[in-house]
Amino acid sequence: MNVLDLFRLDGARALVTGASRGIGRAVAEALADAGCDVAVTARTRAALDATVGAVEDRGRKAVALAGDLAEPGVAAGLADAAAAALGGLDVVVHNAGTLPTAEDGSPLLLPLQLAEQPDWDSVVTVNLNATAALCRAAHPHLAASERASLVLMSSVAGLVGTPMMEAYAATKAAQLSLSRSLAVGWARQGIRVNALCPGWTRTDMTEFASTAGPLSDWLTSHVPLGRWAAVEEVVGATLFLASPASSFVTGHALVVDGGLSVPDGGLAGHPKPASPFAPPLAPPLAPA
Ligand SMILES: NC(=O)c1ccc[n+]([C@@H]2O[C@H](COP(=O)([O-])OP(=O)(O)OC[C@H]3O[C@@H](n4cnc5c(N)ncnc54)[C@H](OP(=O)(O)O)[C@@H]3O)[C@@H](O)[C@H]2O)c1
Repeated sequence: MNVLDLFRLDGARALVTGASRGIGRAVAEALADAGCDVAVTARTRAALDATVGAVEDRGRKAVALAGDLAEPGVAAGLADAAAAALGGLDVVVHNAGTLPTAEDGSPLLLPLQLAEQPDWDSVVTVNLNATAALCRAAHPHLAASERASLVLMSSVAGLVGTPMMEAYAATKAAQLSLSRSLAVGWARQGIRVNALCPGWTRTDMTEFASTAGPLSDWLTSHVPLGRWAAVEEVVGATLFLASPASSFVTGHALVVDGGLSVPDGGLAGHPKPASPFAPPLAPPLAPA
């Protein structure tokens, strides 16, 4: 046996949500490289069609399923439609996710005490409620598979304190809890369930922060590897969790964060610039 064969998924049927761009599109392409037929979902049909083209260029079948996970019933419908189109599901990478969004479409970064309840609700609806609905709907399809793997795209924000993104971080922590519970509950049905926790990764979602400047400098100063990740650096870990390479791994949260969540207690000594968030968003520490 060649160990690289463990990363193959020839003939597998995969669903990747949030695959119109960013991490999700790269995951869909990687799963196609590994031999999967892939159903891809997002709201933006034109962008999904581009992902379909990228999968088909790799010689695999691709199906675009458009839908807004904020709408009731859509998450479940996408799982069922993907299974119907591909003849079943072996791999589900639930990657779609959102930050709270302002009216102009930009990310809304506010501490909890200044945010409005609808901002919280909109993030919980997409990141948590739709996750539960998708997992529930995917279950019978995965239970019928001989190589079922469910991967939830959580975040390092679910592991560490993430001020100004409390709703996002809470939903990502909830995904970690859900993945552990499902891993135990579904293990004897042959379904592995794991989570992935990327750190700061350059995508449309993080463009507001990754552009060179004080915010990017401040964020990367807290990353031991000292830089942003590229989406390709998240994809390998996703393929590991989806494929037989991780056949004895379930209930795990795989962290791909350049060391961000490793507590160094400041011992590494990397210089940390001052927070670019002005008071009252980041109030100064009270004098001791
Ligand atoms: N980038 C990072 O630094 C980072 C770090 C940790 C975790 N993550 C997680 O990784 C995942 C992918 O993030 P990304 O950075 O690749 O983000 P992105 O570039 O913003 O892509 C998000 C994807 O989700 C889809 N999506 C968003 N809201 C949706 C909705 N209401 N209904 C259906 N689809 C929706 C988007 O497609 P449409 O807009 O076309 O619907 C897009 O395909 C997310 O779960 C995110 O929380 C990202």
